[in-house]
This record gives sequence, C-alpha cells and structure tokens, in this order.
Amino acid sequence: MNLANNTVLITGGASGIGFALAERFVRAGSTVIVCGRRADKLQEAQQKLPGLHTHVCDVGNAAERVALLDWVRNEFPALNVLVNNAGIQNRVQLATDTEEWETRRQEIIINVEAPIHLAMLFIEQLQAQSHPAIINVTSGLAFTPAAFVPIYSATKAALHSFTLSLRHQLNQTPIQVLEIVPPAVNTDLGGPGLHTFGVPVDDFADSVMARLAAGEVEVGYESSETRRLASRAELDAAFEQMNNR
Ligand SMILES: NC(=O)c1ccc[n+]([C@@H]2O[C@H](COP(=O)([O-])OP(=O)(O)OC[C@H]3O[C@@H](n4cnc5c(N)ncnc54)[C@H](OP(=O)(O)O)[C@@H]3O)[C@@H](O)[C@H]2O)c1
Repeated sequence: MNLANNTVLITGGASGIGFALAERFVRAGSTVIVCGRRADKLQEAQQKLPGLHTHVCDVGNAAERVALLDWVRNEFPALNVLVNNAGIQNRVQLATDTEEWETRRQEIIINVEAPIHLAMLFIEQLQAQSHPAIINVTSGLAFTPAAFVPIYSATKAALHSFTLSLRHQLNQTPIQVLEIVPPAVNTDLGGPGLHTFGVPVDDFADSVMARLAAGEVEVGYESSETRRLASRAELDAAFEQMNNR
C-alpha cells in the first residue's frame, strides 16, 4: 500500500502500536484520525503528534461504532483506510476466575466483535474511495496461544481467521485487506510494565510499515514472523516451549 495521501482511522491509536502507526502515516503525508476511550490520552497523542485528529469512541459499544461511521462520513468523507488496532489483554486463570462474565466478555467484544462490525460498517465508505484498505492488528498468539491469556489468544485467532475470509470476499473490490501480526511489543498492553520484555515499538512499526508499503499483505516481526509461517509441528513445539517454561 502507499503510505501517503490517505485518510486513515486508527482505533486505539493514542498509544502503543496504534500511535506508532499513526506517526508513520502522518510522516508519509497521510491524514490520521485516532480514537480511544480516554480523552486525556487522545489529547496527549495530539500534543506529541501535531496535525493528528482525535475522537473519543468506545469500540466496545455497537452504537458508538455506528456513530463513529456517521462522524467520519461528516468530518472526513475521504476516509480510505481503517486500522482495527484497539485491543485489550487480560490474564485469566480459567478454573478459579472470580470475575463477572460481563467483564470477561469485554475482551471478546473489543478484540473480535468490534473489528468485525467496523469492517462490515465501513466497507461501503471505503469502497467509494481510491486505494482503500482495511488493516487488522492480530498477534503472534493467533498462531500459538499463550495459555495465561486464553481469551485474548482465542480472540486473535478469530480475528486472523476473519481477516482471511474478509480478504477473500473483498477480492473483487478495490479494498485491500492487510494484517499486522505483532510479537510481544513493549507497550502498555494489559497494564503498564507487563510488556517491557517486548521488542521496541518503533523498530517493530518501522519494519511492518516498510513491508506494507512494499506490497505485502500479512506481516509479522521476529518471533511472530516465524509463527505465522510455521508448520503445525513447529507451532505445537512453540506452544510447548512457551507454555511449559
Ligand atoms: N504489545 C504487544 O505485545 C502486542 C502483541 C500482539 C498484538 N498486539 C495488539 O496490538 C494492538 C495495540 O495494542 P498495544 O500493544 O499498542 O497496547 P496499548 O498501548 O494498550 O494500546 C491499546 C489501545 O487501544 C485502545 N482501546 C482499548 N479498548 C478500546 C475500546 N473499547 N475502544 C477504543 N479504544 C480502545 C486504548 O485506549 P483507551 O484505553 O483510551 O480506550 C489504547 O490506546 C492490540 O490489538 C493488541 O492486541 C499487541
């Protein structure tokens, strides 16, 4: 894809991976809108990246997704790229968990229901533009689950699966369907300090954006690149290694 001259909406783009993608789209000459639940985080992002547009939206709420499309149609009618990046991650011990199901369900709603619904909602808007694209942010854990984040891993496997079907169904339209498959990246995912073992977000973002710009449709980085290309036997071995160490 061409990184320049787009109008891009990045869900969850005020921090972490979403913000790093926003910086690179802006630098390349695209207009970028980021949305998220926390107005203060959006404001902080705007201060760090002048020219960034922001909008408060909880993609976990179906009515807010519909309202987001209406807002975009009015404010940014040329929007041609949707990046489904917003996500949350919870550590859950399945046999002893005491959380209300409604709380647990949020991970499924935000990580799977929202990107599926947003993709479906935005198809008509995107189709009317030149060089339209939908970019879904999944995870290396879509291919090898981490058992300590069982619901999260399942949501990412589902989003990877959906991305393949979406690409197939849209292959007669101008909409490109792309997938970014991050490994562990040093962001605040799951809470501050829980992903400091991850790769630096800027190195990761530089690599994946360069590869998307070069025309690749599914891109990982380091361990997630290995995982997305692995055989079933290699995935089983990686699962054992990751979960039994
Ligand atoms: N970091 C990693 O190791 C890693 C690995 C694989 C995949 N990923 C994926 O990369 C994506 C970005 O995560 P990150 O690592 O950059 O974590 P992050 O810094 O926590 O960013 C997540 C962003 O999503 C937003 N968000 C969460 N729930 C939302 C909702 N209901 N509505 C709107 N925005 C929402 C958050 O903002 P608010 O809280 O203000 O809403 C935040 O800006 C996620 O899909 C994640 O699963 C990350």
